Amino acid sequence: MQTVRTDPIDGQKPGTSGLRKKTAVFKRPRYLENYVQSTFDGIDGVQNKTLVVGGDGRFFNDAAIQIILRMAAANGAAKCIVGQGGILSTPAVSHLIRLRKADGGLILSASHNPGGPDADFGLKYNGANGGPATETVTDKIFARTTEIETYRIAAGDDIDLERIGDTQIGSMQVEIVDPVADYAELMGSLFDFAKIRALFASGFTMRFDAMHAVTGPYAHAILEDTLGAAKGTVMNGVPSPTFGGGHPDPNPIWAKSLMDIMYGADAPDFGAASDGDGDRNMIVGRGAYVTPSDSLAVLTAKAHLAPAYKDGLAGVARSMPTSRAVDRVAESLGIGCFETPTGWKFFGNLLDAGKVTLCGEESAGTGSDHVREKDGLWAVLLWLNILAETKLSVADLMADLWSTHGRCYYSRHDYEEVESEKANAMVDGLRAKLPSLAGSTIGKLRVETADEFAYDDPVDGSRSSNQGIRIVFKGGARVVFRLSGTGTQGATIRIYLEQLVTDADRLHMEPESALEMVRAAALQLSELTAKTGWVDPDVVT
Ligand code: G1P
Ligand code: ZN
Repeated sequence: MQTVRTDPIDGQKPGTSGLRKKTAVFKRPRYLENYVQSTFDGIDGVQNKTLVVGGDGRFFNDAAIQIILRMAAANGAAKCIVGQGGILSTPAVSHLIRLRKADGGLILSASHNPGGPDADFGLKYNGANGGPATETVTDKIFARTTEIETYRIAAGDDIDLERIGDTQIGSMQVEIVDPVADYAELMGSLFDFAKIRALFASGFTMRFDAMHAVTGPYAHAILEDTLGAAKGTVMNGVPSPTFGGGHPDPNPIWAKSLMDIMYGADAPDFGAASDGDGDRNMIVGRGAYVTPSDSLAVLTAKAHLAPAYKDGLAGVARSMPTSRAVDRVAESLGIGCFETPTGWKFFGNLLDAGKVTLCGEESAGTGSDHVREKDGLWAVLLWLNILAETKLSVADLMADLWSTHGRCYYSRHDYEEVESEKANAMVDGLRAKLPSLAGSTIGKLRVETADEFAYDDPVDGSRSSNQGIRIVFKGGARVVFRLSGTGTQGATIRIYLEQLVTDADRLHMEPESALEMVRAAALQLSELTAKTGWVDPDVVT
């Protein structure tokens, strides 16, 4: 065991999803070590604790795991449970922490950000409930990064991450486990696998794009081997350190090859994709893309068709920028609907307290109380269970949602790598206008309410302020402005546009035209072009 002298390298503030930096930053001398020791210190040490460790297989995953294990040993941990080959999807880590009653876990991932020597890396700590660390904990971790003087690491050779079974580092036990088995068993307990198997056996076709990321082995095992989907259903199913040079974010832009298949001749019945670490999902039917906000609404309306949710839902939650489609479904079901700040950790308290069963975000995250992370494959399987029960197509299910509850047209516009000062100036400008906006007319829209979202957690009473600017217009339009908390360079401005339409003859418009008025109002209000020099967004989802 060695105690190594070190100095704080720079202020390393973990965001809503742990710490994300360029891989080269994580590889700087002592950087990863400093952050790991700060994490251990921030959780009051790991003495005698059991931790789950795994990542999405991106470049530096395995080398970082070897360092983390030697540091956990030197810090007195009793045991680390590690996915074979260093692989574990984020929801699988969450499940393993809960299943094995571990004290917490470390997830190595930068989620949907590209991986590789010139791309991104990340590290996140999840607590004993299986969910992302609370803000109190991440604040403590951050505080330690600014004052750290030493870290502890055990000497010794790398261990073999491929060999399933037990080994030791000093007096710490390391158990290498199959990354898929426990997760697959959990899925089998939630859904009617026999029904889904029968659906595939009847000729139902599907494509699942694992995007060269972590869900490949899970999707092969569950969709093809267990549920009988045809071989070849899973595309890009072998995890690669650089995600095949791609951007493992399941949306119509980055999963374009899947979109082309789903909108092409001979499209299969159902398409889905998941991201780098397996917590996000994209759902697309034959010629029918489903926005994540609409997906949450459909799942809420139909979850009772799956065994795990047959008694109904306690309530649902969505992040503030997520469209209000699910609110309308929740209202008709007579269940509570919570609006939380962006980031999965805010759902944790609601799930733990049994106030909600399902939750979701516009950024392609959906989940339930089965783990404390969003879960890409879980969402895909719940969709499959609903399709198997209803025998409807995805397009039919959407049409049914819209005719019953109205359609929330929705789009997110991202402006990436904007100079931070300019982005902040735009937000400050908007903030200054807020008090005088109600009742005024912007373009063709009349403002109903305008505020900056703050969240009072109904479980622990904590308050989170400055969680995005929201402007609600008369007639069902809404715009939300916020700055990303997960970018690794400059600032990313996100503008979320929404327009509710209930007229039966306007339920099948092009989203762009339905959103035209609210988009114009958003640009006018924010003075985006004048303040930042930007005109068109980099990514529209
Ligand atoms: C983004 C998404 C947010 C999600 C987070 C982690 O955060 O918008 O919904 O929880 O990634 O996957 P942002 O960059 O907007 O702060
Ligand atoms: Zn992710």
